[in-house]
Amino acid sequence: MKKVYIRSYGCQMNVYDSQRMGDLLGPLGYEAAAAPEDADLIILNTCHIREKAAEKVYSELGKLRYLKKRRARNGNAPVIAVAGCVAQAEGEEIVRRERAVDLVFGPQTYHRLPDLLKSHALSGRPVVETEFPPEDKFDHLTKTVPKRGVTAFLTVQEGCDKFCTFCVVPYTRGAEFSRPVTQIETEARALVEGGVREITLLGQNVNAYHGLGTDGEVWSLARLITYLSRIDGIERLRFTTSHPRDMSDDLIAAYAENPKLMPYLHLPIQAGSDRILKEMNRGHHSEDYLKLIARIRDACPDIALSGDFIVGFPDETEADFEATLAIIREVRYASAFSFKYSPRPGTPAAEMAGQVADEVKSERLARLQALLASQQKAFNRGCLGRDMAILLEKPGRHPGQLIGRSPYLQSVYIDAGTHAIGDMVNVTIDAVGSNSLSAHIHP
Ligand code: 5AD
Ligand code: SF4
Repeated sequence: MKKVYIRSYGCQMNVYDSQRMGDLLGPLGYEAAAAPEDADLIILNTCHIREKAAEKVYSELGKLRYLKKRRARNGNAPVIAVAGCVAQAEGEEIVRRERAVDLVFGPQTYHRLPDLLKSHALSGRPVVETEFPPEDKFDHLTKTVPKRGVTAFLTVQEGCDKFCTFCVVPYTRGAEFSRPVTQIETEARALVEGGVREITLLGQNVNAYHGLGTDGEVWSLARLITYLSRIDGIERLRFTTSHPRDMSDDLIAAYAENPKLMPYLHLPIQAGSDRILKEMNRGHHSEDYLKLIARIRDACPDIALSGDFIVGFPDETEADFEATLAIIREVRYASAFSFKYSPRPGTPAAEMAGQVADEVKSERLARLQALLASQQKAFNRGCLGRDMAILLEKPGRHPGQLIGRSPYLQSVYIDAGTHAIGDMVNVTIDAVGSNSLSAHIHP
């Protein structure tokens, strides 16, 4: 057996892509290596969303160069590959700057990995493949999937046409694209076959999904969810990441109507000031967002809301920043991600006047994160004493303890008794921390 080590950076779509690369390599005789030192093939699946991403990759590659040199003396130098969004953005530059690299390929070309390995083995030269190919990569991925555990990601949509002025995604992942329903169904059934009970549908703009349905019509994400929830063995569905502009009525209604759709929604607004939202090209006002949240809460009163926030976007004043805090106070998030604005080469915001000093960004981020942390705590505290269904997912810290997931995506520690990973159990929440809960199973 040969061994492959894949390191995934960044978002959940990269986690999914890394798994699919692993699936492609299985039939070529590769199994997973525990560390780069043991691997014949090392893949860095990179992320380009924020600053220094490329620099971090080059510094990681510098370390791998030594590993490769050392192992070359024993005649077993590993093949080193750079995949993902940095590969897409940097292309040939990577092999020019780092001679240890053998393969460079992007998020839309990784299905060609077996061929790229072959042509590298034949030529002994670096191979770079970052063109957006005309074929659909999903047609070339394996139809079967190995066991994934109890929860899994499934990419249903990729790319973005929104062009928020801070974001590289439209350039690295390309135009918006939705997979056809039957292709998604086949993959979902294969996951369920392997023991998966909860599937998270992924897309950069997942609620903009508009794929070819089984009846030849274009289906919305809500229709896709309804369809997938009829598959026996799927107990829970989630989706991420959504854009406020694509939050359609049928999707909101699905929260009320479909018990398999979990009460959790990641719906980034990024900033609270309308002036900044406009400069970001988000295409909506803060008031639209609040109205939307109210409609979602009408349909699903207990929904756990999550979001992304950027502080220190060009020209953001203290008053603009406070508008972001005000939105957060109003919405009350269950969890959220927040970042300092990072100028990305080639994006419009990187060229804007009024770039904010790093100290100001840091100070604002600290205030914002303190508020979000207190909200997360409050959300968790609100769960104390409540009964809920938990999907048991993995071993806990102590013997007999398992970690499960609540409908709201919290980790819950449970003394599982005779229950096993994959079981759905009814519990009462006994204690809450800021990041996890603990519970006992109903007798
Ligand atoms: N700087 C900081 N954060 C960014 N994000 C995207 N681009 C940037 C950037 N240039 C954040 C957004 C997005 C999340 C995935 O990353 O909040 O929703
Ligand atoms: Fe980037 Fe905006 Fe598209 Fe999200 S919606 S991927 S932030 S351009």
